[in-house]
This record gives sequence, C-alpha cells and structure tokens, in this order.
Amino acid sequence: MSHQPLRHYLSAADLTADETRTLLALAAKQKRRWQRRQRASKKLRGLTLAAIFEKPSLRTRTTLEVAMTQLGGHSVVLGDSIGLGVREPVRDVAANLSRWVQLVAARTFRHETITELAQHSTIPVINALSNREHPCQALADVLTLQEHLGELQGRTLVFLGDGNNIAHSLLLMGGLLGLNVTIATPPDFAPDAAILAQAQALAVQSGATIRAITDPHAAVQGADAIYTDVWASMGQESEAAARLPIFAPYQVNAALLAASGNAHALIMHDLPAHRGEEITAEVLDGPQSVIYDQAENRLHTIKALVLWLLGRA
Ligand code: CP
Ligand code: NVA
Repeated sequence: MSHQPLRHYLSAADLTADETRTLLALAAKQKRRWQRRQRASKKLRGLTLAAIFEKPSLRTRTTLEVAMTQLGGHSVVLGDSIGLGVREPVRDVAANLSRWVQLVAARTFRHETITELAQHSTIPVINALSNREHPCQALADVLTLQEHLGELQGRTLVFLGDGNNIAHSLLLMGGLLGLNVTIATPPDFAPDAAILAQAQALAVQSGATIRAITDPHAAVQGADAIYTDVWASMGQESEAAARLPIFAPYQVNAALLAASGNAHALIMHDLPAHRGEEITAEVLDGPQSVIYDQAENRLHTIKALVLWLLGRA
C-alpha cells in the first residue's frame, strides 16, 4: 500500500526541514480544498486509524477523527481501558494493532511508551502528545505563523512559561525551519538540555537563533509572536498551586505586550488555556490572538500528516 519506508512522527525533528515544508504545503492545499467544497475525499478509503489516549483531549482527538472521516477513512478511539503497558505489554498492543489498522496515534504520559509502541509497530505511529513533545501541535502552529507572517525565516517566536512538551516541539520546529525561538522560563523549569542542544544543532543549518533564558521582558523584545501554555501540564495538577507564584512574572498580559516593542505581535496558545493564570482574558481573546486559527490548523495539518505517512499524499 505505502510506497515509502515506514516512518513515524514522534518528534518535531523526525521529519527533515524539506519534508516538513512539503507537509505544510500539503496542509495548506487540504485547507483550501476543504474550504472550497466540503466533500470527503476517497484517499484513505478502507483504512483505519487507532488512537490511544491516556490523557484527556478535545482538539487532538476530534481532529484525528475528523481528518480520517474527511479523507474517506475511519478511526477507532481507544481510551485508557486498553491498559497500555498494564493490561498487556506495549509491544503486544503494537503488534496487535499492526495486524488490524494502518496507523496509530498515541497520547501518553511517558514518551518512552510511544517510542516503544513505534519500535514494535509495522505501521506508522504518531505522537499525539507525550510528556516530552507535542509535534502535531507545532505543525499547526507553524502553518498558522506562515499564514499570518509569510516566510518564517528571520521571524521570532517567543514562548513564555514552562519548558514543557509544547516548548520542546516549538524549539525543534524553529531550529528545523529557520524560525528564531526564544523561550523564557523560571530557572527551575528550563527546557530539556538535550532538546535545546538538538534545536540549536538544527539551527546551524537553518540559520535560526534558538535561546533559552529566564527574563520574560528581555525575551519578548522584537517578538513577532508570543506563545504561552499552561503552567502545570496534564499529570502535574498537584503542583499547580505551588507553581502559581513562581510563574506569575511570565504571565502574558497587556503590560508585557506593551513592553515587547511590537504592539502587533501575534498571540498564540495551544489550548486549553487558564485565563488569568498564564495569560489574561483580555490578551487571549484580543485582536492579536490567533488561537482558533491554531486550533483549526490542527485539522489540516493532521490530514497532511496521515496522507504523508501512509504514502497517499
Ligand atoms: N492542544 C491540544 O492538543 O489540545 P487537546 O489536549 O484538547 O487535544
Ligand atoms: N502542556 C500541556 C499541553 C496540552 C495540549 C499538557 O501537556 O497538558
């Protein structure tokens, strides 16, 4: 069926820069096509995606399912009840699914669960968010940036808050595509050093500047886009209260925007958002916000990704 070697999408750096650009162009094409005439294609007729969720999801779950429907395929959503690695070993889940479906997406706590799933699958595996990365989100984010800013080379994305899964995938995506990324976090919440080094190594090729600092005001100077995410991710709920005072200086609010030197910077968030914590309602719901474009683009980019991974692009 597929005419290309087996590929997975576990990290934003799993595709080359050229492959990522091809995929973004395909996503833009899918978007235009859907906007022109809302009719499902037959490209994935008879093909099934299995989606495993260890954590809650609105956007990822819906867009995966809608993507399969719009491409003429089908999806099976498997919740926590399959007991990935508990009821049976991850490798057996991978081997079983490989005999029935053509594609797997998994949202897990441990990133290693997804890499193990991929290792034992004979079909493509997509990271639908792990504690380490959220590459599907980063794809939608760079498509959104392209739509609003045009060429990404030389533009600057600033991420404020926790050095988390979203931050990691954005750092890698920036390094890959030549988009400057500055991340400002409290000192104890810096991004993973290995991922930062990987993003900086990619940036040598692309010409991007990739920085991790702690001063939010220095970070936002000259930003073309300012991005934030929750201060406590899924699985860290018990730390949420203790984190509030630590992260307070990193809140994206009107005063910070005024200090950025670019009053027109785009405002980004992967959602769900906590208004009044990492970002004020005024800014999140203000005129510079592109959060629902990001959310919409989750659909178009996931369509492009499944087509590409299945060799049906
Ligand atoms: N941004 C995102 O991945 O949203 P969900 O957690 O709702 O899937
Ligand atoms: N960092 C967040 C992203 C949610 C889409 C989390 O992992 O909960």
